[in-house]
Amino acid sequence: MSLLTSFRASGSSAVSVPSFGGGTDNTSDEFRLVKWHFLANAGTQQASGRNPRVILITSASAGEGKSYVAHHLTANFALDPHSEVTLIDANFENPALGTSSWMGGSSGGLGLLDYLDSTGVDQNSIVKSTGLNNVKVILAGTARENAPELLANGRLEQLVAARSGNNAYVIIDAGAVLSNGGAAVLARYAGQIAFVVAANTTSRSNITQGLATLDRIAGPIDEKSLGLIFN
Ligand SMILES: Nc1ncnc2c1ncn2[C@@H]1O[C@H](COP(=O)(O)OP(=O)(O)O)[C@@H](O)[C@H]1O
Ligand SMILES: [Mg+2]
Repeated sequence: MSLLTSFRASGSSAVSVPSFGGGTDNTSDEFRLVKWHFLANAGTQQASGRNPRVILITSASAGEGKSYVAHHLTANFALDPHSEVTLIDANFENPALGTSSWMGGSSGGLGLLDYLDSTGVDQNSIVKSTGLNNVKVILAGTARENAPELLANGRLEQLVAARSGNNAYVIIDAGAVLSNGGAAVLARYAGQIAFVVAANTTSRSNITQGLATLDRIAGPIDEKSLGLIFN
């Protein structure tokens, strides 16, 4: 059964994220629901053997809310002081972390691609602290042409294995599936995937094409591991 068929037939697990416009920050409760969706699956063994504590946030195209979801979800996981979260910026074409409040004004330093490219860069030199002591972040790093290839060289696997565990989660803010191979390659290392759909914007054909691309490159994707987030 293809991912597309199971998406249509079973409806997959749809998690709704209402719009957060209007000025007040009412995001906590909305993202709690999204978080619990992922927590519910975090302890389950997957047929694929992929780690369900590694959560990939992607979408078909740019601007659909991937970073918005990734950053809010990270903050929501951090509400539990016993949880530890590592937010990884893996959108190399359009990184979001360096300009975010997580970085407290510092945008520089080594990031994921630097680590993947060189054994001289270890995990400790890319994991950065934030204002919350249970949240760590990893920047995208210096842009490289061969970013999708670097993702598959084995070092990412070691990184996410080291950053995930009992109460430790990795949230990956990935690129758009339809823009290059990077996001779909990342899906090989994530036990859960949030596929963000921009309400009234994302076309049905882009959704089906995006899911089919994930399935082709990272598949087969366990249907329970995929959540559609309507943003
Ligand atoms: N639910 C939302 N409410 C308010 N603003 C949002 C929401 N989702 C996305 N945005 C804003 O829309 C823009 C694009 O979203 P972003 O998360 O950067 O998209 P992507 O990472 O998929 O390219 C950003 O300025 C973001 O803050
Ligand atoms: Mg983004």
